[in-house]
Amino acid sequence: MSGLDGKQTSSSAAIAANNISKAVVVGGGLMGAGLVVIIARAGCHVYMVDINEAMLERGMQRVRENLDMLVSLGKLPKEEVEPILARVKATTSASQAADGVQFVMEAVSENLPLKQAIFEEWDRLTPPTTILATNSTGFSVGDVAQKTRHPERVVGSHFFTPHLIVPLVEIGYGLATTDEVVETTVAFWRRCGKDTVVCRKNQPGFLVNRLQAALAREAMSLLANGAASAVDIEKATRMGLGLRLPLWGMLEQRDWSGLDVHCAGMASVYPTLETSKVPLPVLAERVARGQIGVKAGKGFFDWTGKDVEAIRQKKQWQLLQLIDTVEHLMADMEELEEAE
Ligand SMILES: NC(=O)c1ccc[n+]([C@@H]2O[C@H](COP(=O)([O-])OP(=O)(O)OC[C@H]3O[C@@H](n4cnc5c(N)ncnc54)[C@H](O)[C@@H]3O)[C@@H](O)[C@H]2O)c1
Repeated sequence: MSGLDGKQTSSSAAIAANNISKAVVVGGGLMGAGLVVIIARAGCHVYMVDINEAMLERGMQRVRENLDMLVSLGKLPKEEVEPILARVKATTSASQAADGVQFVMEAVSENLPLKQAIFEEWDRLTPPTTILATNSTGFSVGDVAQKTRHPERVVGSHFFTPHLIVPLVEIGYGLATTDEVVETTVAFWRRCGKDTVVCRKNQPGFLVNRLQAALAREAMSLLANGAASAVDIEKATRMGLGLRLPLWGMLEQRDWSGLDVHCAGMASVYPTLETSKVPLPVLAERVARGQIGVKAGKGFFDWTGKDVEAIRQKKQWQLLQLIDTVEHLMADMEELEEAE
């Protein structure tokens, strides 16, 4: 049987997505607490695992806050909150949580040796049919799975904050991941109400973060070169580029404007684009000074004295309204699939 990449699927059958009834989320931080809610909403029992009782308590508090937020946004009926909570347990004991688990979702801090140790542990604690997924932003699935005996069941599942609201999750192959594991993971997240894209290569950043990194590097370069103010770069990104993206992505846009036009026009633009292999000084120097963004009060913009929580909440509402429209616009993706 051949699968998503035309590769042969493995004979070590992964469980069907509909039969996944017990999952574990390792790490109850910002991402983990949301993932617990996303999975428990689909009817699965979920164990949240974290390093100590204080982190677990904080994680469970986040789970309740997430549920309240969904209710207040009108995205979850209030009467579903208690049944969801009844499916969630928390423990510091990985071996206790491992009993009978079919899907493990890792969401610990972005630290490669830590992630490798977690996967080594869960590879040991679970049978080879259990799927082990990583939410890593920057490390490849292959790197994360390096110390496992069964790397064929390690897969990427990369979410985007606010992940309870953003509909997309990227599924990524490692060096040995089978098509069957990817297909089950895709089906599982769809069962959890998410839309999916698959990155067929074992590469850091999957698809979205690679596209985003290229754009962010160019934006920072434009700022450093004095080509425009930070506000104008924001405006250009949002109103010039971003506004059209839900209707025409990077490839379809080229079809409509003409590949010949792009080919001719970019011959003079491509050689001038930023290609630095390391973070530009405009970024690294801010980080060294502790100017790391909203949480520090300063990044590319000055946030001191601003009610950032109110701004965050307002943007979350606006995002929700946008998503309702964008989901409607995405209906033409089926036509595009036919045209591929
Ligand atoms: N925050 C985002 O916007 C975002 C988006 C996409 C992906 N990610 C990725 O998701 C992962 C988690 O990010 P986050 O923002 O939730 O981090 P976080 O710091 O909020 O949470 C990490 C959690 O992992 C726990 N942890 C650490 N070591 C552990 C261990 N040995 N066993 C169990 N738990 C342990 C910590 O106690 C903490 O609760 C990272 O890999 C990150 O890159 C984050």
